[in-house]
Amino acid sequence: MAERVIITRGDPCLEKKCRPVVKFDKRLHTLIDDMKETLLISNGVGLAAPQVGILRRVVVVMDVMEEGNEHILELVNPEIVAQEGEQTDFEGCLSVPGQYGIVTRPYKVTVRAQDRDGSWFEHTGEEIVARCFCHELEHLDGHLFVEHTDRLYTPEEMDEYRAAHEQREQEAESEGGE
Ligand code: NI
Repeated sequence: MAERVIITRGDPCLEKKCRPVVKFDKRLHTLIDDMKETLLISNGVGLAAPQVGILRRVVVVMDVMEEGNEHILELVNPEIVAQEGEQTDFEGCLSVPGQYGIVTRPYKVTVRAQDRDGSWFEHTGEEIVARCFCHELEHLDGHLFVEHTDRLYTPEEMDEYRAAHEQREQEAESEGGE
């Protein structure tokens, strides 16, 4: 396995529609293994092939978030087949470093995809996994999360926003208790 270079916003590769995978060969397996290693090294939750300059429909997504028990889903030619609910939170991208935006996504998402050998399967994710499915699949059609938000926040601004939001919630709770 080898780490690959993650390209950033402004690179035309991130604006292209990716082609389906048709050959489930050694080359695909190497790409998937390299993407997994790159994801782990970058501390990301998901990565799409165009982010490493490959215009094919492949994504990897961190499934279990517990430390030491990471499982990375490999999705080839993925599509969303069901979604429900709603969640709104900050979202970021390894190709848009240091910038975060508030994006609303479905709470629960089911994807249908092929594994590295071409067999079809379905997987359902909630919360951050569902958010990640939506985000990574958009990469395959040349879209970035920034298209869903009016403003981008630095990590410091995001922390401030979260702290203020928590304070407002606490105030609302204590008022409700009186
Ligand atoms: Ni991204």
